[in-house]
Amino acid sequence: MVTFQFSTYALFLTGIVLQTSALDTYIAAVYEHAVILSGDTPELVTPEDALKLMNKNLDILEEAIKTAAEQGAQIIVTPEDGIYGWVFTRDTIYPYLEDIPNPQVNWIPCIEPERYGSTPVQERLSCMARNYSIFVVANMGDKKTCNSSDPQCPSDGRYQYNTNVVYDSDGKFVARYHKYNLFASEVYFNYAKDPQFVNFDTPFGKLGVFTCADMLNFHEPAVSLVEKFNVDTVLFPTAWMNTLPLLSAVQYYSAWAMGMRVNLLAANIHKPQFDITGSGIFAPDGPKVYHFDMETQNGKLLLAQLDIHPRLSPTYPPPVNWSLYASSVKHFVPETQVFTGSIYFDNFTFAELSQQAGNYTVCHKGLCCHLSYKMTEKREDEIYAVGAFDGLHVIEGEYYLQICTLLKCNSTDVKSCGQRVDMAHTRFDSFSLSGTFNTSYVFPEVLLTETQLAPGEFKVLTDGRLISNKKISKPLLSVALFGRWYEKDSPHPLYTS
Ligand SMILES: *[C@@H]1O[C@H](CO)[C@@H](O)[C@H](O)[C@H]1NC(C)=O
Ligand SMILES: *[C@@H]1O[C@H](CO)[C@@H](O)[C@H](O)[C@H]1NC(C)=O
Ligand SMILES: *[C@@H]1O[C@H](CO)[C@@H](O)[C@H](O)[C@H]1NC(C)=O
Ligand SMILES: *[C@@H]1O[C@H](CO)[C@@H](O)[C@H](O)[C@H]1NC(C)=O
Ligand SMILES: *[C@@H]1O[C@H](CO)[C@@H](O)[C@H](O)[C@H]1NC(C)=O
Ligand SMILES: *[C@@H]1O[C@H](CO)[C@@H](O)[C@H](O)[C@H]1NC(C)=O
Ligand SMILES: *[C@@H]1O[C@H](CO)[C@@H](O)[C@H](O)[C@H]1NC(C)=O
Repeated sequence: MVTFQFSTYALFLTGIVLQTSALDTYIAAVYEHAVILSGDTPELVTPEDALKLMNKNLDILEEAIKTAAEQGAQIIVTPEDGIYGWVFTRDTIYPYLEDIPNPQVNWIPCIEPERYGSTPVQERLSCMARNYSIFVVANMGDKKTCNSSDPQCPSDGRYQYNTNVVYDSDGKFVARYHKYNLFASEVYFNYAKDPQFVNFDTPFGKLGVFTCADMLNFHEPAVSLVEKFNVDTVLFPTAWMNTLPLLSAVQYYSAWAMGMRVNLLAANIHKPQFDITGSGIFAPDGPKVYHFDMETQNGKLLLAQLDIHPRLSPTYPPPVNWSLYASSVKHFVPETQVFTGSIYFDNFTFAELSQQAGNYTVCHKGLCCHLSYKMTEKREDEIYAVGAFDGLHVIEGEYYLQICTLLKCNSTDVKSCGQRVDMAHTRFDSFSLSGTFNTSYVFPEVLLTETQLAPGEFKVLTDGRLISNKKISKPLLSVALFGRWYEKDSPHPLYTS
């Protein structure tokens, strides 16, 4: 009997596997949420008041989850800090935290709300997933008491973790991820002790989950999830402040999904006054849908169809040797007029593009970048530069970068090259950018005026050239090959001092 049931089950599973063959797709959703913050300054509130605020945010998230489900989405990702914001100290966030068990416990909080003490947020998230029959991904705070038997136990006797939680369409708790790469301002959370490689199988492929700075800071867990655990889709709740010219949200997410060749569901907070906006659904061959809105205060639901197994798709991009072209060509005539300019505190070597068309090579330490370009028209009121950077970034996180970029300078003074700029008027007929990278982790970025992406307007050749397909549809802000040389990173902050 048991055997029989088992084999029926196995056949049933085989059926699913056959059904989800190469070309099968699913509908995914992300919600950019205009979170209601706890206040302008940290304030200690009662657990009741904390829950009141969280329920206000959950009411808004519920509307999005319901709408997404009605429109056929099988999963929805909501943003990091989307339930209570980020204005906290270690003490003032405490009333917002819940003890979140290990998902192995096999728990549907909606059905057994009392099983782990007071867990109203987990209960509500589980009920939303169950009621609307959709996978729900959210970010909340976990607390774990500890004592002197643990030498690392914080002096207040508890760990506090920035945590992603996932519920399946029955409301069952299926995944918990503690953030490994905290951003500098997140002093009210503890680092997870080790990177957690949280991944799980679903009817729409293998999913992996991490959050925000995990995408920039370290090799673990993000790169291993994609390369060792072979996830098909990354779930990415985030609260990402746009940092032009190279690290605005949709620009970097899109580039990361292309460089890592994986699906990515990125849900950001919506707070234009803090420069926080930019969410999307990204596939290995480019963005499916994205949103960037500095004008309104409204949240935004995005839906798109994705391949369940992008690696099996005929449009899956081939692997790239990022240094092949650049190492094989002669340097273009060396540019003597190089100067230093800073991007997000990193000193790049730049050369100004002085003609309407040309070929340049600029080098910084071991990295040489080659650019060929043709502008539609060389304007008097805007200048562009090509830059190279090879070094350890040390502000707000330490990570080793190798970057080649073509970008618009903020003014016609070369001293402004690398500064933030969000508008341009210069159009390009063509460009080709490449570099002598020492890493295989290179993320290709193309950003147009007003922080717009350029799906279908460029491609990456297998020899590492990032080239335009045709005349670019809008004026260009920046093009970059954003390389991360993980082997040269500093140790994780947990293992220093
Ligand atoms: C779920 O549905 C039940 C029954 O319709 C309802 O009582 C409950 O309030 C719903 N919960 C949520 C979170 O929507
Ligand atoms: C200290 O923590 C450990 C592990 O959590 C627990 O087993 C133990 O009972 C605690 N001891 C005290 C005195 O609370
Ligand atoms: C990329 O090409 C370079 C130059 O031909 C070669 O040395 C290197 O081994 C290649 N890298 C990979 C990962 O194939
Ligand atoms: C970058 O350049 C500026 C000005 O030339 C200099 O003050 C600063 O120390 C440099 N930063 C680094 C990290 O080298
Ligand atoms: C740039 O180099 C290409 C080939 O290497 C050449 O055909 C082209 O004329 C050059 N463009 C300029 C403006 O020098
Ligand atoms: C860039 O230029 C604009 C206006 O031209 C100016 O307001 C802004 O402060 C500049 N940004 C930086 C970082 O200098
Ligand atoms: C980095 O790449 C350059 C160009 O391919 C090469 O000359 C250099 O030896 C490499 N450096 C290291 C440390 O691998």
